[in-house]
Amino acid sequence: MRIILVGYGVVGKGVTSILTQRYNEKVKDGFNPKIVAIADIDGAVINPRGLSPEKLDAIKQKGYPISADPEFGVPGIKALDVIKEVEAEVVVEVTPVNIQTAEPAISHITQAFRTGKHVVTTNKGPLALAMPALTELAEYNNVVFRFSGTVGGGTPMLEFAKRCLIGDRILGIKGILNGTTNYILSEMSQNRVSFQDALSSAQKLGYAEREPSMDIDGFDTACKTVILANWILNQKVTLKDVDRVGIRDVTLEMLDEAAKRGNSIKLIGSIDGKNKPTVKPIEIPKTSPLCVSGVLNAVTYQCQFAAEQTIIGRGAGSIETAGAVLRDLLDIRHKLASKLLT
Ligand code: HSE
Repeated sequence: MRIILVGYGVVGKGVTSILTQRYNEKVKDGFNPKIVAIADIDGAVINPRGLSPEKLDAIKQKGYPISADPEFGVPGIKALDVIKEVEAEVVVEVTPVNIQTAEPAISHITQAFRTGKHVVTTNKGPLALAMPALTELAEYNNVVFRFSGTVGGGTPMLEFAKRCLIGDRILGIKGILNGTTNYILSEMSQNRVSFQDALSSAQKLGYAEREPSMDIDGFDTACKTVILANWILNQKVTLKDVDRVGIRDVTLEMLDEAAKRGNSIKLIGSIDGKNKPTVKPIEIPKTSPLCVSGVLNAVTYQCQFAAEQTIIGRGAGSIETAGAVLRDLLDIRHKLASKLLT
């Protein structure tokens, strides 16, 4: 499988690390990933025969800019041209999130679709702003579009619902979908840390978005709620359809009052199938499986037959999210191998 990697930040580097390990395991499961190009803002490295594990390691060691590589560097080439011109089966899009315009990721993704390439992304921006249109465009072009790492990081929250709960009917979804806000609320209530100090610690842990408002004001949770609504409940919604309140106004006093009632306040993304998706801080019982602390994420699927099913795990991290990319690549390979695509 030939792969073009677009974006070489924290997740992009995690992807090359994981795929480098997999190069040596191809005999085990027949999966033979080859990164034929990495495109970043300043240019690209391109080797149509596949960048070797040694080269990928050397690129990581030498650091930025990747296009300075003496053998395969192509300074100045645009990612859109790399996607169009380099032969590959899959584009892995891991550029930074932009929820204003979804660029440049949305152009990368649509370019890949138009040139017949499957897409794996961890980028929430295009999905939050245009998920119904993107899934339709992928179908129209007969390519697979996967985005497991956008919700729950390495925790297979989308697959759990889509595959493990197949046959059941999911009636509603509630989730703690943002590690940063969960960490802040946990630190405030359990350790009496101030909002600002808790936010600074979360930023040091590497979970927080570059722009704190993305986490604190619930935009990140809203993006993930949109993805769940579309993918699991088949609702054609985008970010503007979400009723959203963040955690800025949650005080220590409110957390104390909730604790007296045996509850915790958590930022919850909810979809019930009847009303608009919502994101807001709500009280949930401490005994609920959904009530996880620290940077953990959790989602509860309310099912017709299986009742409540909750999946818990880490919702971010370089290698965890890269693991989700690998999961998606294997899913695409499986689909290609079983000729589910024409
Ligand atoms: N800022 C996000 C979080 C990162 O805290 O969960 C993962 O999407």
